[in-house]
Amino acid sequence: MIRHDAELGAANTLGLACRAERFAALESLAEARQVLAEARRHGWPVSVLGGGSNLILRPWLPGLVVQADFADWWLEPLDADTVRVHVEAGMNWHSLVEALAARELWGTENLALIPGRVGAAPIQNIGAYGVELADLLESVHLLYLDDGRETVLSREECAFAYRDSVFKHALHGRVLITRLVLRLSTRPAPRLGYGDLAARLGPTPSASEVVAAVSRVRREKLPDPAVLGNAGSFFKNPVVAAERARRLLAEYPGMPHFPLADGSVKLAAGWLIDQCGLKGLREGRVGVHDRQALVLVHHGGASAEELLALARRVADTVAERFGVTLEREPRLLGRALP
Ligand code: EPU
Repeated sequence: MIRHDAELGAANTLGLACRAERFAALESLAEARQVLAEARRHGWPVSVLGGGSNLILRPWLPGLVVQADFADWWLEPLDADTVRVHVEAGMNWHSLVEALAARELWGTENLALIPGRVGAAPIQNIGAYGVELADLLESVHLLYLDDGRETVLSREECAFAYRDSVFKHALHGRVLITRLVLRLSTRPAPRLGYGDLAARLGPTPSASEVVAAVSRVRREKLPDPAVLGNAGSFFKNPVVAAERARRLLAEYPGMPHFPLADGSVKLAAGWLIDQCGLKGLREGRVGVHDRQALVLVHHGGASAEELLALARRVADTVAERFGVTLEREPRLLGRALP
């Protein structure tokens, strides 16, 4: 059913006020086909909303906003060690992680407590604690907005990279993701190499124990969107050439850095921002989180423009001090009120 003039403030974790000209919560794939066909008939531009946790909303979204609410999931055993998981776009990501861990199916546990819905996960290739969605994903089912065509993309066709995929480029704004197919292991396969995860767990943790440990680490550092508006990491961790990393390390020997296979080096944006003394900064109704400088927070009543101005100030300060460019991670949608 299509609603008119819908308020989306509760549908984005930053809690920015936004109205959609039209809004449809899609209860099934059949309803998605029908509503999107109607949008094509009327020529409405369509915006797709997931859990709203990686989104900066300007006050007005013209056309039609859709959100997939269908959320079934089922298992397809492949062999003694491997299970395929089919999961529809509307399922809450963390609920899926908990359900799989409860069945001792291994693969998603390090991605515990990442906010948002399953359908949005491939867009930024969600990743945490040494695991990315791309490590587990087999295929993505989708529906093209412009002609209703339905297709399945393999992992290779998704062109995954760090916080990146084809859905941010060639398919940007062009598809509704309807289902993910993941491949998980029935054998214990804990990956505890990141930070102090191993120290928080015994030698043979269950999948649910890993989920609990990852959730605790996240709760210690990251603000709960239900309490303080935020969209997780506001910037990507920057990747710089080896030579720049070498020069920065000569000056800042303690700088966190992660050499990549191609010789370039990934730096920690949170550390760079923190070093500039910006952690905990508050500018009016927006600020930099006081426990993780990579997260910008919204204290209530601010606009996207205020948040973007703070982001510019943060990025400019880091560029001036370190000569490193920070790139925004969350997607910007909408426009000023008509
Ligand atoms: N650091 C600081 N000060 C800060 C924040 C970080 O000094 O305010 C330092 C830390 O001490 C550490 C390094 O920077 O040495 C990296 O910090 P952390 O382990 O917290 O991870 P991150 O690189 O800041 C990334 C992801 C997170 C993910 C964590 C854990 C990005 C943009 N962010 O953060 O993802 O949870 O690693 O894997 O890649 C998200 O995307 O929304 C997100 C939260």
